[in-house]
Amino acid sequence: MDFNIIRTGRAVLNVVDLDASRDFYVNGLGFIETESDTNNLYLRGLEEHNHHSLHLKKASAPSVEVISYKVYAEQDLDALSSLFAAKGLKTKWLEIGEQHAVGRALRVQDISGLPVEFYAHMDPVERMLQRYDLYKGAKVQRIDHFNCMVPDVEKAYNFYINEMGFACSEYTAAEGEKIWAAWLHRKPSVHDVAFMNGVGPRLHHVGFWLSDQLSLIHACDVLASMGYTTSIERGPGRHGISNAFFLYLRDPDGHRIELYNGDYLTCDPDFKPIRWDINDPRRQTFWGHEAPDSWFNEASVVQDVLTNKTIELAEPTLKQHKPTFVT
Ligand SMILES: [Fe+2]
Repeated sequence: MDFNIIRTGRAVLNVVDLDASRDFYVNGLGFIETESDTNNLYLRGLEEHNHHSLHLKKASAPSVEVISYKVYAEQDLDALSSLFAAKGLKTKWLEIGEQHAVGRALRVQDISGLPVEFYAHMDPVERMLQRYDLYKGAKVQRIDHFNCMVPDVEKAYNFYINEMGFACSEYTAAEGEKIWAAWLHRKPSVHDVAFMNGVGPRLHHVGFWLSDQLSLIHACDVLASMGYTTSIERGPGRHGISNAFFLYLRDPDGHRIELYNGDYLTCDPDFKPIRWDINDPRRQTFWGHEAPDSWFNEASVVQDVLTNKTIELAEPTLKQHKPTFVT
């Protein structure tokens, strides 16, 4: 590959009420508000030295404008553009100055129809890691990963592994050893992106990394005190897959956010992907709890990178939406 994708970079989400979003993300979860105006809210975690990892845009309805990866160097963008164009997939350039705080960016519709963006530059800002006086709520540290529902996980898996240089850390095998879900990474963690079998393409959640498990439990207390009990969808719990401690939240627009801590290093070249059987209840929640139906059925719709219209949804190729737990 003649390009180098570094890591998950940012999500650009459309929301209907920026004040409601600010209360949830800044007052509740402890994001740093880097900047805002009447139509935009730029948020980052305490550890982050780039302008934002979450860009919320005022819109008439919730949707996902784009999920973004940071690349190593400017020329990586040109190589990625050539790859996507050669595959007959939509591409669009956003030149310097077209987006606030972000350099030249390439947007594509990936093999599953997801709106994906690549950029090399984002404006630097002060890192707040040791501004402990500013820590509040969940004390969110940094963006970690995206999880997407796609109709054909194997197609997405093959494209990201063979064409984009991702590696697989863990996967779920369905009947006939078909891949039901896969966790893929560029940075040396469990994942930058996961694909799950389901109606899609849709964004299931954006994962943010916390420094410890008590921060995650404290977030539940803070959110409950603020009246956000209905935003707590699933957890806290321990994933079998990834070993992470997790909490799933729904923001005021229904976008799902995961608070995440405790995965492991994956940079060794001889690391072997870990297989989970779809009917092993410990893979989702190590302690055996089932996820609520909303977690399987609901996700954020995504936009076409050229028209900004919502992408039509397709039924998954594997008919089994939800695992059947053997008890
Ligand atoms: Fe996740």
